[in-house]
Amino acid sequence: MKAVVQNEFGSAEVLRYTDIDVPEIGEGEVLIKTAFTSVNFADIKSRRGAKKSGAFPLILGLDVAGTIEKAQSGSSFSVGDRVIAFPAGGSYAEFVRADEKLVFHIPESLSFEQAAAMPTVSILSYILLHEIGQVKKSDAIVIHSAAGGVGSMLVQLAKLAGVETVIATVGNLQKETYVKDLGADLVYTYDTFPEDVLSQTGGLGANVIFDSVAGDITSKSLDCLALYGTLVQFGNSGGMAGSFKTSDIHASCRNVKGFSLGTTRKHRPEWLKPVAEKVIGLFASGEVSLPIAQVFDLRDAAKAHRLMESRKHEGKVLLKV
Ligand SMILES: NC(=O)c1ccc[n+]([C@@H]2O[C@H](COP(=O)([O-])OP(=O)(O)OC[C@H]3O[C@@H](n4cnc5c(N)ncnc54)[C@H](OP(=O)(O)O)[C@@H]3O)[C@@H](O)[C@H]2O)c1
Repeated sequence: MKAVVQNEFGSAEVLRYTDIDVPEIGEGEVLIKTAFTSVNFADIKSRRGAKKSGAFPLILGLDVAGTIEKAQSGSSFSVGDRVIAFPAGGSYAEFVRADEKLVFHIPESLSFEQAAAMPTVSILSYILLHEIGQVKKSDAIVIHSAAGGVGSMLVQLAKLAGVETVIATVGNLQKETYVKDLGADLVYTYDTFPEDVLSQTGGLGANVIFDSVAGDITSKSLDCLALYGTLVQFGNSGGMAGSFKTSDIHASCRNVKGFSLGTTRKHRPEWLKPVAEKVIGLFASGEVSLPIAQVFDLRDAAKAHRLMESRKHEGKVLLKV
């Protein structure tokens, strides 16, 4: 089968489109024929070696949409079923294997393109909003990096939940129209957002802030987080760790909560099924959708990575397999 493989860490040039063996499935696993897979920022970090994990040859990719090619007897999946999944051992490949606990049926009404765009970003965003951040309708919230894959989803799900004030940040105001079309009420850049958030909330600050950038964005977020507010920290696309002092949180009754979908896939996979069913329903009914920045052929994975690294994309970048 065809796959995109890397044998060293580095820039997008290390991604090689090549032939490898179809994976063997083990107990409790299914084999999926990939229709589309998506590019997530985590893939960029893994490719560069920032995660300091991954044995070579390494296949990147977190999520797929496709059809069941092979299942074990007694499986709850049958050949031909349409599914999304979080595969084991990467998704930039014609066939992937996945633990059945991380495979979810999708209806005919959901296109493979939308289905491939949503697994990581929609399941993550739903958990971040409702279970970690526990947003309320009366809240003012801040969503950093709002034009990206996760950001596009957080903005839509927040508005769907009725959150009164959704404040978005972007690296470049050329993305303002895109983020407002998704439902954001206000859009600022990273340079000015603490003052902007304070002035828009009458000096009170935001009730919940979703931070996937880290570095100085984390400390700046604490400068505009309301009393009793929650900073949800779930990424470091800026490449630097963020920091805060204990005195930033105790007297103000604020808290900082972290979350990782990767950790949850590994240690609490059962958490994901009800959330997956909920978000699949929202996509199938058209209540939310993900704008697709660009679809690349699998062989052009390096071009897809360069687009994401350019920070010019809005929405999801897909690979057609
Ligand atoms: N915790 C988890 O389980 C989990 C799961 C999935 C994703 N994430 C995190 O969520 C974030 C978004 O992921 P995504 O896949 O949806 O990616 P994305 O948002 O589509 O792309 C990354 C975005 O990060 C922003 N960014 C800010 N500083 C940057 C920098 N120094 N270099 C590059 N980009 C920078 C850019 O938007 P602007 O140009 O507008 O700033 C860029 O478009 C990432 O931090 C990712 O690691 C976490």
